[in-house]
Amino acid sequence: MRVLLVGGGGREHALALGLAGDPSVTALIAAPGNPGIAAMAELREVAPTDPAAVAGLAVEVGADLVVIGPEAPLVAGVADAVRAKGIAVFGPSAEAARLEGSKTFAKDVMTAAEVPTARAYTCTEQESTGRALDEFGPPYVVKNDGLAAGKGVVVTSDRAVAAKHAQDCGRVVVEEYLAGPEVSLFVVTDGEAALPLLPAQDFKRVGDGDTGPNTGGMGAYTPLPWAPPGLVDEVMRDVVHPTLAEMRRRGTPFAGLLYVGLAITAAGPRVIEFNARFGDPETQVVLALLETPLAGLLHAAATGTLAAHPPLRWRDGAAVTVVVAAEGYPAAPRTGGVITGADRPGVIHAGTRRDADGTLRSAGGRVVCGTATGPDLAAARDAAYALVRAIELAGSHHRTDIAAAAVAGQVTVPA
Ligand code: AMP
Ligand code: GLY
Repeated sequence: MRVLLVGGGGREHALALGLAGDPSVTALIAAPGNPGIAAMAELREVAPTDPAAVAGLAVEVGADLVVIGPEAPLVAGVADAVRAKGIAVFGPSAEAARLEGSKTFAKDVMTAAEVPTARAYTCTEQESTGRALDEFGPPYVVKNDGLAAGKGVVVTSDRAVAAKHAQDCGRVVVEEYLAGPEVSLFVVTDGEAALPLLPAQDFKRVGDGDTGPNTGGMGAYTPLPWAPPGLVDEVMRDVVHPTLAEMRRRGTPFAGLLYVGLAITAAGPRVIEFNARFGDPETQVVLALLETPLAGLLHAAATGTLAAHPPLRWRDGAAVTVVVAAEGYPAAPRTGGVITGADRPGVIHAGTRRDADGTLRSAGGRVVCGTATGPDLAAARDAAYALVRAIELAGSHHRTDIAAAAVAGQVTVPA
């Protein structure tokens, strides 16, 4: 099959590796792609959030399957436009992508489906925000209601900072703080049948020890040696199937990748957020262990035939990825710096570009990720950091503690 992949970050490089490794894929085209993806795909220019342009490109390249990586095209209706051309597309409709695009919508669906999540209020005025902050108390959680590329959330014990963020955003969701380790669970679904991938953990804060501002994610690992037994089954039963049923009931079934962001609290798993696409950088580690051919899996979800798909197969061992970020990320990343040491297996390109003479340069906040597998988490972690140490980019930074607590057996679910 001919596959068109939309996007050009680290997640899409990881998807491209998976798609290119599927023997049923005869051609892989990526738009816009990136220099890492260029090694395995034909790159085409496109405005990823322009539904007509992407649908036109899908027709032009004779795509049998379109895989949409990032959230912005989904929210803009790109999947709808491709589907309208009669082409199979992995990615939800604009209506269904509101599970990610609007925090208020997601809370509505969760309430209707009785999905365990933090109690929350949507607030538009200083007065109601203040009341919500005082009801929940510190630490305060204030979320921008719209798409914010993982950076619209402030978690702080400083009430003034929380109130200021609410004022800056206009419309916010103020919610109860959930204490416990976080899990990202990706679920491939055709709207009815659903297959969970391996649970992963992401590191959202920029600094070691979970300090500093939130980012898109600074590293990830899978599997989770500390996860309570039965966690995935419990989340499928209490979160995923009720949510999919509620979306069907509303006439807007969710087909694609349902990303369930959870906190594992003393009272059990609680949903922190839904996303409508693969997470970045968790995809890099989850797909590194997936043995099942990726294009066939995504095609089954895109064509409503997932119930007939064989069970997923996984490689033994573990995978770790560590993000190398540009100087100034996340506030004001400096781009254009020369990168060396990145053209080797295991280095996933996120924000890079290549000059005509072959020089690789940074082109985004998260620049590359060192991704490695190993027989266990400690080995995978060592291998990922070996890749990172070989990468040079002036002023760049990375966390040094990705997967460290899990390796040391220090991640615990609150009692
Ligand atoms: P979100 O964009 O909703 O995933 O939020 C980004 C990050 O903020 C999450 O990964 C958590 O680390 C943190 N966060 C969001 N909501 C909560 C909450 N209710 N309790 C604790 N931490 C939260
Ligand atoms: N890694 C978090 C996200 O993709 O939203």
